[in-house]
Amino acid sequence: MPQHKFIVCNYQHSLTSGIVSWQAPSNIALVKYWGKYGEQMPMNASVSFTLKHCNTKTSVSFEKKQSEGFQFEVFLDGKREEGFEPKINKFFERVEAYLPFLKDFKFKIETSNSFPHSSGIASSASGMSALALCLMEMEQRMQPSITDDYFKEKASFLARLGSGSACRSVEGPLIVWGEHPEIDGSSNLFGTKYPFDIHENFRNYQDTILLVDKGEKQVSSTLGHDLMVDHPFAAERFRQAKDNLSKLIPVFKNGDLPEFIKIVESEALSLHAMMMTSLPYFILMKPNTLEIINRIWKFRDETGSKVCFTLDAGANVHVLYPKLEKDNVLHFIKKELLQYCKNGEFIEDEVGLGATNILV
Ligand code: DP6
Repeated sequence: MPQHKFIVCNYQHSLTSGIVSWQAPSNIALVKYWGKYGEQMPMNASVSFTLKHCNTKTSVSFEKKQSEGFQFEVFLDGKREEGFEPKINKFFERVEAYLPFLKDFKFKIETSNSFPHSSGIASSASGMSALALCLMEMEQRMQPSITDDYFKEKASFLARLGSGSACRSVEGPLIVWGEHPEIDGSSNLFGTKYPFDIHENFRNYQDTILLVDKGEKQVSSTLGHDLMVDHPFAAERFRQAKDNLSKLIPVFKNGDLPEFIKIVESEALSLHAMMMTSLPYFILMKPNTLEIINRIWKFRDETGSKVCFTLDAGANVHVLYPKLEKDNVLHFIKKELLQYCKNGEFIEDEVGLGATNILV
């Protein structure tokens, strides 16, 4: 069913050609989205830190055309990437009802990531968010009365139709996606800013991403989500995610880091447990992922540090810790964990505030 709130009828202005450009960040989920239904609706609510340095910059040049159908070309780092085009085409099909001008223009989509494409870091969240924001900017030029709130909400709504987690990559620092009974304003349709108090322990929280395996993803997330459809533990998993988000509300408020660690690490391991117990089954961790996890646990036991880890649907490890611990934890990472990374590679990131418009 189309969401009428996001359909603008009769634009005030028309455009002939131009360029729009946005930078959008990646995000790291604390409570994971794994399982969807209908048109990109999540089976459970998730919450993520928006990142600062891992991002995608996208420029969309547009020119009015007469021919029928979608017409676009995608360039990654200046090189034509035909491999990306089917995904964008699917995205255009899904969002056309909300952006009725898409067939009126020919587009050149130029994109680049701050992290290497082969790093195993998903670019779909930042990429789809950046593209959705560019298209929203076109819409705003045609309809200048659009408010900032509507702009961001609809950008997140559109990004979700490209890739679920992308809807959490428009704003920051902490974004909820999916209806949750205790979180005001939460929606399955778009990400919203976490609306309650956030303790200063979480301000500028650090995320050092350890690149354990830089290969192509073994399981695409779309396939992974499908595996939840007949999964024997699905219902319990969705309940667990909901409870974990409820438990995080007081934690965000009072800054209880031991409790934060328990929830976040358990979420990461539950996500992987779902993959290990689906049919077909997958083990996405590598031996070095486990080495890193064990080293983190040992370091925490020995030093009382509040460092912890989370994982996405892959082998890389996100090492999370308070800003106050930055020097100590980075020293530990360099001394003990880099040996488990491919070519010793890692990315230093931290919580950020969301996407920005690039003036061109
Ligand atoms: C494991 O958002 O990549 O990162 O909606 O099919 O594009 P699609 O999936 P995607 O799934 C991300 C799953 C995750 C957990 C999370 O980010 O919440």
